Amino acid sequence: MVIAVDGPAASGKGTIARALARHFDLPHMDTGMLYRAVALTLFRFGGDPASAFEALRACDGVAQVDPTDPDLRSEIVGSIASRISAYPDVRAALLDRQRHFASRSSGAVLDGRDIGTVIVPDARAKLFVTASPEVRAQRRLAELVGRGGTAHLEDVLIDIRARDARDSGRAAAPLAQAVDADLLDTSDLSVDEAVAAAIRLVAQRIGAT
Ligand code: DC
Repeated sequence: MVIAVDGPAASGKGTIARALARHFDLPHMDTGMLYRAVALTLFRFGGDPASAFEALRACDGVAQVDPTDPDLRSEIVGSIASRISAYPDVRAALLDRQRHFASRSSGAVLDGRDIGTVIVPDARAKLFVTASPEVRAQRRLAELVGRGGTAHLEDVLIDIRARDARDSGRAAAPLAQAVDADLLDTSDLSVDEAVAAAIRLVAQRIGAT
């Protein structure tokens, strides 16, 4: 049983995917981390995000990146990840790793941008998690401040909108709601409410209670 969770940056999809994995006792893959690992490799080697060739070469370094490296979560790495994820060759290089994880006999939860549309189109349950750009900017700001950083809400909002435009506007596997995905708007929900709603929607899809 595969559960696909897609949505824009800071929509809450990661938190929801982790909670679903715990609830249904399934392994979880945050596929954004793969793109971030490519971005971090490229960044550390001084590569150019405008070069599809250099980005593709950085894919070879993914296995060497420590998944707990705090730099993976940085804003600059997220922004490079959004740029290099537009290259079809980069997406193709990361495809097998994701499909392999999804084909585990235990089942799996994967979250990202194209899980329900491209990676696992036949997933048992698909959620498209979203929230207004303003709410997502506020959440991202709180996260940044919580990590000891500083930022202005307006700048975070500009960045969120730019990321949305890039992730949704690219030709290769753009961020989009699968036709058979359930939409979950978390704008007015607390974390606990969003998680409860997600569990309810998935349980309905898989016929469990
Ligand atoms: O979810 P995130 O912010 O960690 O993802 C970073 C970038 O990676 C995001 O801006 C777009 C890209 N990405 C993607 O193109 N496809 C995925 N399945 C996951 C992430």
